[in-house]
Amino acid sequence: MKLLSRSPLWAAGALVALLSTTPYTAAQDPSPSPSPPSQPSPPAVPPPVAATTVAPPSSSPTPSTSQSWSQPLPINPTFSDPLRENLTSPSFPDPEYVRLLDYTLLFYEAQRSGKLPANQRVQWRKDSALDDGKDSGIDLSGGYYDAGDYLKFIFPLTFAMTQTCWGGVEFWDGYQLAGQTTYLDQMVRWGMDWLIKAHPNNNTLWVQVGLGDVDNDYWGPDSGIPKPRPSFQVNTTSPGTDVTADAAAAFAACSILYRDKLNDATYASTLQTHADSLFQMSETALPQQVYQVAVPAASCCYASSGFTDELAWGAAWMYKLTKNSVYAQKALKYINSLNAQSVQTNPVTWDDKTGLVYVLMAGATAGTSDGNAQWQSLAEQFATFTHTAAKPCMLTKGGLYYCAGNSGDDSAVVAASAAFSLHLLANQMSTAGGDATKIDAYRTFANGQIDYLLGNNPEKTPYVVGVHSNSPINPHSAPASGGNSADTLDTFPEKEAYTIYGALVGGPDKNDRFLDIRSDWRQNEVALDYNAPFNGLMAYQVMTSKTSPAYAVIPPGRPDLPPILNGMAVWQIILIVIGSIFVTIAIGAVICYRKRHQIRAWAAARKMNKHNKVKTHTLKNLGGPVNRRNQDHIVSSLDIPPPPPMRGQQRPVLPAPLPPREDLVLLENARR
Ligand SMILES: *[C@@H]1O[C@H](CO)[C@@H](O)[C@H](O)[C@H]1NC(C)=O
Ligand SMILES: *[C@@H]1O[C@H](CO)[C@@H](O)[C@H](O)[C@H]1NC(C)=O
Ligand SMILES: *[C@@H]1O[C@H](CO)[C@@H](O)[C@H](O)[C@H]1NC(C)=O
Repeated sequence: MKLLSRSPLWAAGALVALLSTTPYTAAQDPSPSPSPPSQPSPPAVPPPVAATTVAPPSSSPTPSTSQSWSQPLPINPTFSDPLRENLTSPSFPDPEYVRLLDYTLLFYEAQRSGKLPANQRVQWRKDSALDDGKDSGIDLSGGYYDAGDYLKFIFPLTFAMTQTCWGGVEFWDGYQLAGQTTYLDQMVRWGMDWLIKAHPNNNTLWVQVGLGDVDNDYWGPDSGIPKPRPSFQVNTTSPGTDVTADAAAAFAACSILYRDKLNDATYASTLQTHADSLFQMSETALPQQVYQVAVPAASCCYASSGFTDELAWGAAWMYKLTKNSVYAQKALKYINSLNAQSVQTNPVTWDDKTGLVYVLMAGATAGTSDGNAQWQSLAEQFATFTHTAAKPCMLTKGGLYYCAGNSGDDSAVVAASAAFSLHLLANQMSTAGGDATKIDAYRTFANGQIDYLLGNNPEKTPYVVGVHSNSPINPHSAPASGGNSADTLDTFPEKEAYTIYGALVGGPDKNDRFLDIRSDWRQNEVALDYNAPFNGLMAYQVMTSKTSPAYAVIPPGRPDLPPILNGMAVWQIILIVIGSIFVTIAIGAVICYRKRHQIRAWAAARKMNKHNKVKTHTLKNLGGPVNRRNQDHIVSSLDIPPPPPMRGQQRPVLPAPLPPREDLVLLENARR
């Protein structure tokens, strides 16, 4: 009933939209963004920087089909082999997934800051920002630029590192099959070497280099990065509880990768020392607070909404690393204080790791007496929330996992993180001999998201740069674009100077539309944390997929999709207008039918009245008596029922009294 009565309003709104030809805009959830940067500093003479240590070649078989990709090729822009579309013969491991895994790691080479090593494959990137940290008397050169700009932030970096190392451990076979273990090592080590510099002692963690304002005014090459580039720290007197706990998680997760897979016990032990120290600092440095309190400059881009999920995340990784039950108890304590009454119902993002804490603890506690059943149950509740796309999430018409409040900034990443979480959980359950039906459901969901991201979507677009002619060609990356001014960001150069291979872009809007506009950071930006779940997913695909990614059979060219107006397609608007007219007529008909007796009576009365009037008139003309009383009499003698009551005359219905305020509060609490 409500819907029916409201549809005319919708139609009116839709018509207004139609008539005013509102330009179509991408779905927008308001939120801060890391974005483009500012002005040049002459490259200083680089101090010698510890170059990435290259691990000994892994013993993994190099797939015959992909040999050329895994070599450090001297290429400009990068790889010389043509895009291969329309693959028809499946083989294992699938060469396109091997390529995707290679490319997603290669993306991180395009993000490198500092003095680049001799084996740098992305050769259009040059040495840059060699003075980072000098303002504070330390060396903070190196590491990775966060996104399409030249800022360095620890918070998204540590999350990216943690996810990558987790995927490296869990889906190690994929990296081996693809001959990518060396590149995995290089990618992780480049980040961790810098994080070690950023954590020079037990009391200090450097969390940001550069200023959002300065950097956002700049759009140009890495040779002209603007100054000043101040460095910001948290410490024991101005803590950043979330950022130190998140860094502890990264050190712990990557320590496991080096200890268990990459066979570098020394490095693993170094990383573990940092993890220990940082987690301890998170728990002991007071007051516990979100890090932008200590470093307001971070508010531009990565303000954290709370620190308890990071404390749980840090504790969970310390537990996985050490198997010390104390950490399991801590993880549980933090989860309980975060979310005592019900399971987490937020998607996994750089700001919220709660769902991943369940999954991690469910796996890490397997076979122990550290509360496995409880963690497994929480993980499965989270998995149900995810694969059923429960509110605030949904599946778009095209099938993308889309969460209101989060996906507007980077829909592809929210979907990739969800898929990564469920593949991790399914893998753990499968190893432990878990419920096959659930495992299937999780995998079906996760594979569906991967398929979507790789081209099985209305735009027929793989949201990865450089793998298909429908791939995004305008990624929001200052160095790759070749542009030199923020004013001409979209127009110059017409075609981007370099292909930033392997970058997962922000992704389509909630109507599955993708416009591929360079300045549209929501859809087109690239970032460290975007590709992090994707790394693990591609390794998983290499080790499991018997078919090529969806784009392999997509012909070049995006389809012409019908326009969307204010979130509605034209055909929907037309349907609503027609529907509304129909509904209005139908409602009228129903009312007429229900009031048919009154109407009939009324009509009859009217007729009779007229008839009598005519009669009276005739009488009058004939000279008969005409007066009010006579008329009244004539009318009343016809026995006409009184007219139906008007709406306003109906018995007033009093609204139910509102519950007292305490009850409302209780209701609110119960829902949390
Ligand atoms: C601790 O960090 C705060 C916030 O970044 C900074 O203002 C302060 O100078 C730092 N303290 C020391 C001793 O460096
Ligand atoms: C730093 O912290 C680690 C681990 O918490 C501890 O073992 C070490 O002694 C500390 N170092 C200093 C100089 O306090
Ligand atoms: C894909 O390959 C098949 C076999 O070579 C060919 O017949 C078909 O036209 C190709 N499709 C496209 C879209 O290129």
